[in-house]
Amino acid sequence: MKFTESFLQELKMRNELADVAASYVSLKRRGRNLIGLCPFHGEKTPSFNIYTEDNHFYCFGCGAGGDVISFIMRIENLDYVEAVKYLAQRAGMDLPENSYDDSMSRLRKRIFEANREAAHFYYKSLYLPVGREGLDYFHCRMLSDRTIRHFGLGFADDDWTSLTAHLKSLGFSENELVAANLAVQRRSGNGVYDRFTNRVMFPIIDPRGNVIAFGGRIMTDQKPKYLNTADTPVFKKSENLFSLNNAKNSGSRTLLLCEGYMDVIAVNQAGFSNAVATLGTSLTTEQAMLMKRYADEVIICYDADEAGQKATSRAIPILRDAGLVIRVLTIPNGKDPDEFIRSKGADGPAAFAAVIERSGNDIDYRLQKLRGEFNLETSDGKVAYLEAASKIIASVVSPIERDVYASKLCKEFEIDKTAFNAQLQKLDKSRSREENRRQQQKIRAELSGTADRFDADRAKERRSSSAEEALVVYLVNNPDSCDYISSEISPGQFKNSLMRRYYEYFLERIKSGKDPLNNTTADFSREENNRVYKMLTKYAGVAQTKQTLGEYIKVIREESAKPKRGDVEKMSGDELNAYLEKIRNSKK
Ligand code: UTP
Ligand code: MN
Repeated sequence: MKFTESFLQELKMRNELADVAASYVSLKRRGRNLIGLCPFHGEKTPSFNIYTEDNHFYCFGCGAGGDVISFIMRIENLDYVEAVKYLAQRAGMDLPENSYDDSMSRLRKRIFEANREAAHFYYKSLYLPVGREGLDYFHCRMLSDRTIRHFGLGFADDDWTSLTAHLKSLGFSENELVAANLAVQRRSGNGVYDRFTNRVMFPIIDPRGNVIAFGGRIMTDQKPKYLNTADTPVFKKSENLFSLNNAKNSGSRTLLLCEGYMDVIAVNQAGFSNAVATLGTSLTTEQAMLMKRYADEVIICYDADEAGQKATSRAIPILRDAGLVIRVLTIPNGKDPDEFIRSKGADGPAAFAAVIERSGNDIDYRLQKLRGEFNLETSDGKVAYLEAASKIIASVVSPIERDVYASKLCKEFEIDKTAFNAQLQKLDKSRSREENRRQQQKIRAELSGTADRFDADRAKERRSSSAEEALVVYLVNNPDSCDYISSEISPGQFKNSLMRRYYEYFLERIKSGKDPLNNTTADFSREENNRVYKMLTKYAGVAQTKQTLGEYIKVIREESAKPKRGDVEKMSGDELNAYLEKIRNSKK
């Protein structure tokens, strides 16, 4: 059973988008709308808009759009039903009896349950004879039993069916286990076997406490060293972080970003519970945005080796774009945090705290790196270094922070500060020009829909696509004209297939007496839904009158009377004459 229209309407009324969004985005009023930095992609100039009149949002930067339900789905990483439940709870509404439970939500729930049982099973195995090897491994790596329990670490034994058999005995189906990526289908098609064997196991738990995935480490030098859960309906490795469940309760607005599982655990054991790690991929924008929700500052704690340094340079702009303050930790002697802490024995915690204390910010780090690239013994080298350095300093927004670096450099290289500041100003100007240009270009491309794979017909049929789009928006905004519009234009006259789908959908909703937009989030895919709100946004504030409606109708008719490209070549002489006649008549 679906949620009723009236339930959804009340839900949206009681959860105003501007209110809901305000706890995630800092918003400024602009005219009738609100504007802020988009929470769905990293940006420096705000392109995230909330239209308070009809409670929708649209971001000109990334094209995300929708109603309050779409907003919560994206920002809380929930599916449709979960988001509706979340909002109902927020507004103190009871969910209707017989609450809509579609098969995807049911599956997600089952995967969470299976993962939780699997984590228990792995943990228990660790303390059985079969798990001896795993327990020894963790102990050898200096993890205490308390740490093992705290992280729920475990052991997947050598038998290829032990977890599968256990979960089946608890009532999980093979399909559910495969969907959770806890089991893999046999090639013969007959039955399934365990995904993880002979590895020590690290459960990955999201901030709500759901076990969403696992990492498993082999105990020898074999490859792959770590095996992670593939993407499932509850897990995308590029959008999650290990140990964020612990870090979010650390009471600190600083996160320690480590390279891997063992670093995070060692750092925790040393008393720092605010550590997180990516899951075998380099840092993504989504992960940076996720960190930004729990922290203001990130200290990068990557390995001191070359790969770690490369990863650091790659992570800095991503974290900066997400609005995080960055510091970079340099671990002595090329070690990773885990090795460093271990090497200090009982002094590990204090030694690590001292390294954190000494960590400089990302500007210091980048200036330091840059030095290595120039020969500072020569004048040419100095000039080139200072020019490159001024670019880094110009990227700092705070004037005080800027002045600190500028002063330091000018002193060290004995140059005139006015000259250096003039150089910074020059860079500022060209940067803001460049940013403006890029922003405008983005908005223009967004609005004109050039090079759009999702709406491929648009580039081929510009004139009809524009008119069809305008007609759909008119229909949504003026549902009472539905009968008139549908008597004038049938869906078959649409040339753009995406617009035709929208047209059919909204006609159907309005004819059956429903609010056209009430259920788009459930009925459309995310991208389809984004596009609906993009169209509405494009026409927000544009006057659509009876007269403009007449023009849309005229254009759609003219365009639909034209034959498709290629058809003309195939016409017989008679057909061609009839066609020319028709055009002549329609032009009158
Ligand atoms: P590292 O190779 O640096 O391992 O990978 P580590 O964290 O130091 O692990 P130990 O100390 O040898 O046990 C860093 C992270 O990259 C991912 C894992 O998340 C790991 O923690 N990784 C690494 C994989 O996903 N697969 C691999 O095969 C290797
Ligand atoms: Mn390591």
